[in-house]
Amino acid sequence: STDPLVVFTPSGKRGHFPVGTPVLTAARQLGVDLDSVCGGRGICSKCQITPSYGEFPKHGVSVTDDALSLWNKVEQRYQDKRGLTAGRRLGCQATVQGDIVIDVPPESQVHKQVVRKRAEVRDIEMNPSTRLFYVEVEQPDMHKPSGDMERLIEALEVQWSLQNIQADFHILRTAQPILRKGGWKVTVAVHLGDDTHPPKIMHIWPGFFEGSVYGLAVDLGSTTIAAHLCDLQSGEVVASSGIMNPQIRFGEDLMSRVSYSMMNKGGDLEMTRAVRDGMNALFAQVASEAGIDKALIVDAVFVCNPVMHHLFLGIDPFELGQAPFALATSNALSLRAAELELDIHPAARVYLLPCIAGHVGADAAAVALSEAPDKSKDLVLVVDVGTNAEILLGNTDKVLACSSPTGPAFEGAQISSGQRAAPGAIERIEINPVTKDPRFQVIGSDVWSDQDGFAEVIATTGVTGICGSGIIEAIAEMRLAGLLDASGLIGSAEQTGTPRCIADGRTNSYVIWDGTAEGSPLITVTNPDIRAIQMAKAALYSGARLLMDKFGVDTVDRVVLAGAFGAHISAKHAMVLGMIPDCPLAKVTSAGNAAGTGARIALLNTKSRREIEETVRQIEKIETAVEPRFQEHFVNASAIPNAIEPFPILNS
Ligand code: FES
Repeated sequence: STDPLVVFTPSGKRGHFPVGTPVLTAARQLGVDLDSVCGGRGICSKCQITPSYGEFPKHGVSVTDDALSLWNKVEQRYQDKRGLTAGRRLGCQATVQGDIVIDVPPESQVHKQVVRKRAEVRDIEMNPSTRLFYVEVEQPDMHKPSGDMERLIEALEVQWSLQNIQADFHILRTAQPILRKGGWKVTVAVHLGDDTHPPKIMHIWPGFFEGSVYGLAVDLGSTTIAAHLCDLQSGEVVASSGIMNPQIRFGEDLMSRVSYSMMNKGGDLEMTRAVRDGMNALFAQVASEAGIDKALIVDAVFVCNPVMHHLFLGIDPFELGQAPFALATSNALSLRAAELELDIHPAARVYLLPCIAGHVGADAAAVALSEAPDKSKDLVLVVDVGTNAEILLGNTDKVLACSSPTGPAFEGAQISSGQRAAPGAIERIEINPVTKDPRFQVIGSDVWSDQDGFAEVIATTGVTGICGSGIIEAIAEMRLAGLLDASGLIGSAEQTGTPRCIADGRTNSYVIWDGTAEGSPLITVTNPDIRAIQMAKAALYSGARLLMDKFGVDTVDRVVLAGAFGAHISAKHAMVLGMIPDCPLAKVTSAGNAAGTGARIALLNTKSRREIEETVRQIEKIETAVEPRFQEHFVNASAIPNAIEPFPILNS
């Protein structure tokens, strides 16, 4: 062809186009991902491109600086009014004049990648449920009578190739003045729908709307509820916040909430009310933090464990309290915000990820979406540590899942000096193997207790207790320093040679901090503390070991620790305790709040919802409660690190 060659980067897509073809048109014809909200009218600037000039031997083109048209009036007007970044052009205005290489920057791609900070995971590809479309609507004509809404929908169909668009009554009620105010030019937010829901008009604004629409990724935990407000065009998190789950007043842990609903008529509904009210307050808070109207929140994704799932939906969790732990439904759900009394856009769609099994919820499905064990070549063990540990083991061949009742000890509960992770709580600790003396750090400061300046720490936060990750380190360090035997018994002062080991009833305790002179508590690790952690870690380990049995392996290639607790825990100490199977320390990574990340992926990429539904269908569920080997593993795993399992890598 004698027509100029157009090459787009980074896609590498190319084709020949007649002189005068707008870049946006060429991109569309080649299937290049170049955004546009205004449909090529020079208003939205979403179509910005960067033309390249010079030699491109790789592409076989040499580009002169007249390969694109000079700025036309529309582009010049845009430049005068708002200014384009140097080197950028509007793709809908610039036309092809000669061979050209054109780069589409990430901001101009609809399906841009939202970069995740960790190297081992994939970025999130944008594929939001709701997009903005600018349209010019035909004016009413007495000779061709038709409704304003019909003409608006027709404009969307013709100008944007959308089909079967619907509008709720609340849109119908407000559309007429908006159409007139905008001079028959409006921006429309359309929820693109899915297999079962047609596309739906969510908002109309007069003229071109500069703003965006938003979605919520919500991690509904039994202790805390965290919400991330995301811009559905850029994918950015614009505000995040969390609250304590107001259901805590009905019971600290899940089972006590299930029994509350069993003992009190209507108790489940009280808890449903509480969690929905709490959520609405949280949503108002993130919206105001981001400075947006709550009605601009058009989509929400929730991840939660099965009991929270049922209580949020208003389903009595009774069946989850007893074998065979039947869920009301394990499928993913797509509902309307109004059906759940959520105070966001009334027609906003709410998506709940599927549950894996009676004890393994949508939160575990979200972890699977975030960490993608099903796409991992090496065998990966993913543990989400909370009151229950959700455990996934798998690779591209198959994925197994179970949950194990670790109890709240890892969160600092049931520990004599335990407390939630908050300023003043001991979180890092080292014990000198010779002197047997500890040094530690508290949350809120990076000064060690044996360093100058610790007096200031005492004056500001105090030393108030020990948090979940702190107790793990303390016990592991005690074992390494020889203060503790493999069965978990603390030695006496004579046996250990340190006066820090004090008699405490029939057992001994180890004194970490005696601040009683300053009025702060005596912080010790007692034998019952060690028992509680032994139970919790044995539950975690046996769950993982059971999955390894089922997989037919004795080792795993890598371990991912998820959850807020997983983010703080030290891999070395976890392994000294035998919480997780033996594995090179460098292969143990923390994923942070992977369930929350999974919710964000499902929010920003609607395609990923179908993917995770399919993955969950294929995950093999193991019920620990009915597996005899679980008990066997549990008994062995109470020893530190383990009675029979070798930890060769740890010991080397
Ligand atoms: Fe909107 Fe080019 S497509 S400015």
